[in-house]
Amino acid sequence: MTVHFIGAGPGAADLLTLRGRDLIAACPVCLYAGSLVPEGVLAHCPKAARIINTAPLSLDDIIAEIAKAHAEGKDVARLHSGDLSIWSAMGEQMRRLRALGIPYAVTPGVPAFAAAAAALEAELTLPGLAQSVVLTRMPGRASAMPEGESLAAFAATGAVLAIHLSVHMLDRLIAELAPHYGTDCPVAIVWRASWPDQRIIRATLGTLDAAVGPELERTALIFVGRTLDIEEFAESRLYAVDYDRRYRPTGPAPRFPEET
Ligand SMILES: C[S@@+](CC[C@H](N)C(=O)[O-])C[C@H]1O[C@@H](n2cnc3c(N)ncnc32)[C@H](O)[C@@H]1O
Repeated sequence: MTVHFIGAGPGAADLLTLRGRDLIAACPVCLYAGSLVPEGVLAHCPKAARIINTAPLSLDDIIAEIAKAHAEGKDVARLHSGDLSIWSAMGEQMRRLRALGIPYAVTPGVPAFAAAAAALEAELTLPGLAQSVVLTRMPGRASAMPEGESLAAFAATGAVLAIHLSVHMLDRLIAELAPHYGTDCPVAIVWRASWPDQRIIRATLGTLDAAVGPELERTALIFVGRTLDIEEFAESRLYAVDYDRRYRPTGPAPRFPEET
């Protein structure tokens, strides 16, 4: 018996790995994390599967459900939205399972930031402009930010920020970021990326407040950074004609001569 933690993706039912789909189809018990896991993903469960929404449950309740399945020798598909490596609460569940001696495995999923960047048709890292993306959030009711992880601290690096769980705090976000990036810095908000009602708002830190209505609450990704709206950037060296590389040796003395 194994508990399979599976990244269920950002929303669209077909943004699920084949491995995730096959595991869901093979598990007689499925626990899924609330409204962010789409029905289309749950449709892969076997017909007779026991399917439980864990949104109203406590951690104790969730572990009790898993322990029950373990006692019955039934594999469990444990679904969380996006990928499991960020804000999934997988860590605390795994710690409990280790203590109980219940085996588990992890299958990754498409994270929301990747789906949102795809919706924007954006390469977040462009040569010379930004080579780092910070996946972060603002403090919430249940989660304080560790010292040093303020938006201002990340902004000081000039990296592109992918800000989660924070669309209800735009005033504060603008106040913290505008001094670093400038009011003309591009911002893009993708609400419910990959869902049928997906919405995109493009603005700048100076115009954002007026551009976003109160209807865009929850489930939105906010990107801030220079690469979001720019045509002026250098081409990468990777595909430059004169760039000597392993797969395309060039010049009189290539670093990686072709094998004969
Ligand atoms: C609890 S976190 C889960 C993150 C998830 N584990 C991931 O890999 O993306 C929930 C936050 O992720 C973002 N999010 C999740 N799904 C999204 C989507 N389809 N579109 C935009 N943002 C999304 C929102 O910022 C939301 O508040």
